[in-house]
Amino acid sequence: MHKILIQLDGDAQASVFDRVVAIDAGAEEVFSYAGVKPEQVRDLVHGAIFTRGPKNLKSTAIFVGGSDVSAGEALFHEVSKHMLPQFGLRVSVLLDANGANTTAAAAVRAAGRHVPLKGATALVLGGTGPVGQRIARLLAREGAVVRVGSRQASRAEGVCQTLRGKVPDARLEAAAAGSPEAVAKALVDQQLVFAAGAAGALLLPCAVRIASKTLKVAIDLNAVPPLGIEGVEVGDKGVERDGVICYGAIGVGDTKMKIHKAAIARLFERNDQFLDAEEVYQISQEP
Ligand SMILES: NC(=O)c1ccc[n+]([C@@H]2O[C@H](COP(=O)([O-])OP(=O)(O)OC[C@H]3O[C@@H](n4cnc5c(N)ncnc54)[C@H](OP(=O)(O)O)[C@@H]3O)[C@@H](O)[C@H]2O)c1
Repeated sequence: MHKILIQLDGDAQASVFDRVVAIDAGAEEVFSYAGVKPEQVRDLVHGAIFTRGPKNLKSTAIFVGGSDVSAGEALFHEVSKHMLPQFGLRVSVLLDANGANTTAAAAVRAAGRHVPLKGATALVLGGTGPVGQRIARLLAREGAVVRVGSRQASRAEGVCQTLRGKVPDARLEAAAAGSPEAVAKALVDQQLVFAAGAAGALLLPCAVRIASKTLKVAIDLNAVPPLGIEGVEVGDKGVERDGVICYGAIGVGDTKMKIHKAAIARLFERNDQFLDAEEVYQISQEP
């Protein structure tokens, strides 16, 4: 039975990147739908689940992408509403809009290679964006004590409240991080720092990073100069700089690609999976 991946993308053009990765990960056909709106999802899901019988539905799967992560989340939620599990009529689904789930999983996995995450202190700069929020969520689930940084403390507090709804025992606090002085304050006592700010935004100046006495791992996800952590190179992958293990965006990107492919391959193992940030992170932990 041919492995068919149905790509639902809210953008005007479906992502070529996601199509290529799908093929490289073992999908034999990729049906790409662009400009998908939530009200169109039901018929697309029905097309997927009513064609092959329950025994063969593991060979059909859905990938939700697109550059707008909120729009992707809405499509993912809508997809979940139209499966018919009572009749065995369902297919597995992966959400990776804008690469947010695979990128966050790769970043947290990288940190976890060097420091036990349970009880670790972690500052997530740019913590209000889709990638930063997912990093904070995964860290909190691992038992880390997480500071969510934003140029506006109120935005960081809003994210903390949302995350507490998802991870009830999360240890989270908001931190203002709109100036080098504020970032230096937010970095006090932190072992891990993640820079998940917008492309081209420098979040952590070199002097502030070097002054930290507690920092063990620094991970930057911004590949567009100026980079997010000054002095960390984009290709760094576990490179020690000033006594801190450093990763740049391309260093993390390699792992991210492996996780993306593994998650696509996983879709075709069973027909009952919904892979969001936590499930993708779980896959990243497997050998
Ligand atoms: N390697 C990959 O495949 C991959 C995939 C996805 C993302 N990424 C990278 O990961 C990073 C995070 O992605 P994202 O989509 O979550 O980012 P985003 O939504 O564009 O930005 C994240 C946060 O950065 C802050 N920010 C925005 N403009 C800023 C500026 N000019 N100066 C300082 N801070 C600014 C904002 O927080 P506040 O307003 O609250 O301060 C925003 O919520 C990006 O650098 C992106 O390129 C890489």
